[in-house]
Amino acid sequence: MKKLLIVFHSQTGGTYQMVQAAAKGAQSEPDVGVNLIPASEAGPDELLESAGYIFAAPENLAMMSGMMKDFFDRTYYRVLDRIVGRPYATLICAGSDGENAARQIQRIAAGWRLKAVADPIIVCTYAQTSDAILAAKQIGEFDLLRCEEIGATLAAGLALGIY
Ligand SMILES: Cc1cc2nc3c(=O)[nH]c(=O)nc-3n(C[C@H](O)[C@H](O)[C@H](O)COP(=O)(O)O)c2cc1C
Repeated sequence: MKKLLIVFHSQTGGTYQMVQAAAKGAQSEPDVGVNLIPASEAGPDELLESAGYIFAAPENLAMMSGMMKDFFDRTYYRVLDRIVGRPYATLICAGSDGENAARQIQRIAAGWRLKAVADPIIVCTYAQTSDAILAAKQIGEFDLLRCEEIGATLAAGLALGIY
């Protein structure tokens, strides 16, 4: 059975809700196994054994969060040239921007020569003050549906072998 790997980091729960929705969408495809795993626990083996990927992170200080960057730092050269052409999608949870975190993940994926199945999904939580940024996040239904759809699309494409 083909596997879809969803790697994420989340500090205040927003990205976690997004990946849960993406996993729910992907699980609608019975012929694809979904591996939802925190960035700190994911390594090269998980990348190599999976046919497609969803990378999900908050934007922190105009970058992808450090834990997510650590995942790429630990795995990049260990899987380089071994996952060429596999499909992926990117989910970013941001207070107000998110573009740079998305761009960073796209550049890493381009180095791996992965194939983007869609533009990055960037969800803004509109957290601007310290209190709002540190508070637990609640992602809205519309944005969760977008994440669910990208999970379903990726999994269906894997099952059909169209990527
Ligand atoms: C240290 C820190 C830096 C942040 N920097 C940015 C930023 O540069 N751009 C942005 O849009 N949001 C920024 N945020 C807001 C987070 O992206 C936002 O709170 C997001 O919802 C966090 O996702 P999470 O709930 O999955 O942790 C920052 C948050 C923290 C904690």
